[in-house]
Amino acid sequence: MAEQLKLVAQTKQERYAELFPQLKSVVEGESDGVANMANLAACLMEAFRFWWVGFYRVVDEELVLGPFQGPLACTRIRKGRGVCGKAWEVARTIVVPDVDKFPGHIACSSVSRSEIVVPVIVDDKVTAVLDIDSCELDAFDETDREWLERMVAEVATLL
Ligand code: SME
Repeated sequence: MAEQLKLVAQTKQERYAELFPQLKSVVEGESDGVANMANLAACLMEAFRFWWVGFYRVVDEELVLGPFQGPLACTRIRKGRGVCGKAWEVARTIVVPDVDKFPGHIACSSVSRSEIVVPVIVDDKVTAVLDIDSCELDAFDETDREWLERMVAEVATLL
């Protein structure tokens, strides 16, 4: 496993491309999901300095806070609630350009302005969601969606 990330690219697209193989090598060979989620959150935070990056795991029909980087967050989210609960319910990525305009958005932090939630899907079931928050409006676009979905799909069975 790489001991530290090598990231020199400046554009978002190039940075994701640089991060992808390193991220794979970080989790490959480790079977513990919590350890892998923790390192993925750390890699994404180091690469992009988001406000909050982390996972919620599906546990007994609720989302329960998992490994994350960033400030304190709410611990449990019901299906269909907030952006995370909605992404779980529909099993699709949700990009929210302005959290104030998303009905039912759960504000763990008043600083957060935009958000992307990518479901982790194994055998057609959502097992967790990756949640990323930014303190800038409209921070996430198709580049983020494509790369984050690709990263999550690549390692889903290891999370
Ligand atoms: N905003 C999320 C809740 C989780 S925090 O952002 C870390 C939501 O609406 O589901």
